[in-house]
Amino acid sequence: MNSDLSGKIIVGIAGLGTVGAGVVKILEKHGALIAARSGREIEIGGVSARDRNRDRGVDLTSYRWFDNAVDMAAKNSGINLIVELIGGSDGPALALAREALGNGIGFVTANKALIAMHGKELAALAEKTGAPLRFEAAVAGGIPIIKALREGLVGNDVTAVRGILNGTCNYILTRMEREGLAFDDVLADAQRLGYAEADPTFDIDGIDTAHKTAILASLAFGVEPDMENLPTEGIRNIAPVDIEYAKELGYRIKLLGVAQHTDEGVETRVHPAMVPISAPLANVMNATNAVVVDGDFVGQTVYEGAGAGQGPTASAVMADIVDVARGQGGPRLGVPADQLKTAVPVPVSKHKGTYYLRLRVEDRHGVMADITKILAEEKVSIESMLQRGRASDGGVYIIMTTHMVVEASVAAALNRFTELECVLETPAMLRIEA
Ligand code: NDP
Ligand code: HSE
Repeated sequence: MNSDLSGKIIVGIAGLGTVGAGVVKILEKHGALIAARSGREIEIGGVSARDRNRDRGVDLTSYRWFDNAVDMAAKNSGINLIVELIGGSDGPALALAREALGNGIGFVTANKALIAMHGKELAALAEKTGAPLRFEAAVAGGIPIIKALREGLVGNDVTAVRGILNGTCNYILTRMEREGLAFDDVLADAQRLGYAEADPTFDIDGIDTAHKTAILASLAFGVEPDMENLPTEGIRNIAPVDIEYAKELGYRIKLLGVAQHTDEGVETRVHPAMVPISAPLANVMNATNAVVVDGDFVGQTVYEGAGAGQGPTASAVMADIVDVARGQGGPRLGVPADQLKTAVPVPVSKHKGTYYLRLRVEDRHGVMADITKILAEEKVSIESMLQRGRASDGGVYIIMTTHMVVEASVAAALNRFTELECVLETPAMLRIEA
């Protein structure tokens, strides 16, 4: 029977792009080692992509080709583990997941969009039919963070998970900072290196990080993945001037995914943040990812490694395949799907933190008084303030960092600033996050 995982593992690989071709390479190079470590043989029983004739840097001629990936998950296909590396939250990836898991066939994926959007449904289906469902590569590429949360930290009440979860954005921010390059030039390089999603706006606009944050929150707090209540900002509007001021003030700008369990509920958010240079996340560069987890017994643990690219991602997929071969089970999303709670979302307006603000204003008397009056009225206390000589497009910059304050107050002050005649452009605001 297809779902019988006591004999050979016969893998069907759906999607032969950056990651799919990487999985074929690992199986070809380390097949014997992996069989020994798994305690059983693992062979490729089928492959599928759109274009049969495309050169993928691997010889696929000996493998059975499926024009329709979903056919690999049919009960009589001879395949007992599907590895989905197509991508996308719906379409062929979802159809394949439903077919495989419905038929009791194991399903391994690197697809964070699929798990973030349909994780609960797929986990419930897998638990009903007894099929394995694993997604290590979906978050932070080569870093075994899913395993850390599901296994290594299982004895803890996790209170916070925050991380640099998108290799493309971290690569872009790193090169913008180090080389003063334009955003678009660096994005093209990230695409060439195989880091970016098929639709790179998912990377740049923070959606990919949001998918990963929703999955981490689910595993950490036992809640359903929730993309509806996850405020998301990307890096498109990061101005070179803020990168410069960050450096001057002892920070570095990073795109973060944050999930915190507070007395009020679950706070999840994705946004660029000013990270103090002394914090572990500030020193994570290029396409590297890192995740910081706070647990009540373990304290803080930090995980760092390659977050994207062929080798690291295929490495994580292989770990899942071996886990399935070893028969390692357990609830698919950390707790049984029917016990996942619906999180009480905490709106970002209630976030308490410190902030970086940048205003471009007219250089004349009274301007500072107008600004500080608003800050006083909105109860925003300033920690530091500096004014620099002329901005290239006129006026001067006023840079401020705040003491701890609730975000609604900062938002109210920013709104009022835009109404001042002396304020020459929409003020910039970045949360400061250690
Ligand atoms: P690619 O775009 O490189 O590859 C996608 C593959 O899917 C291609 O081989 C494509 O075929 C194939 N495909 C598209 N539509 C179908 C279909 N209907 N049936 C069968 N095959 C199809 O993507 P990646 O390898 O980069 O990403 C794959 C997954 O891994 C995604 O979910 C992604 O988010 C995830 N991931 C990627 C990482 C990375 O660094 N690249 C890191 C972590 C996760 P063809 O080649 O013929 O066009
Ligand atoms: N596009 C993603 C990134 C791939 O850049 O991190 C890894 O999930």
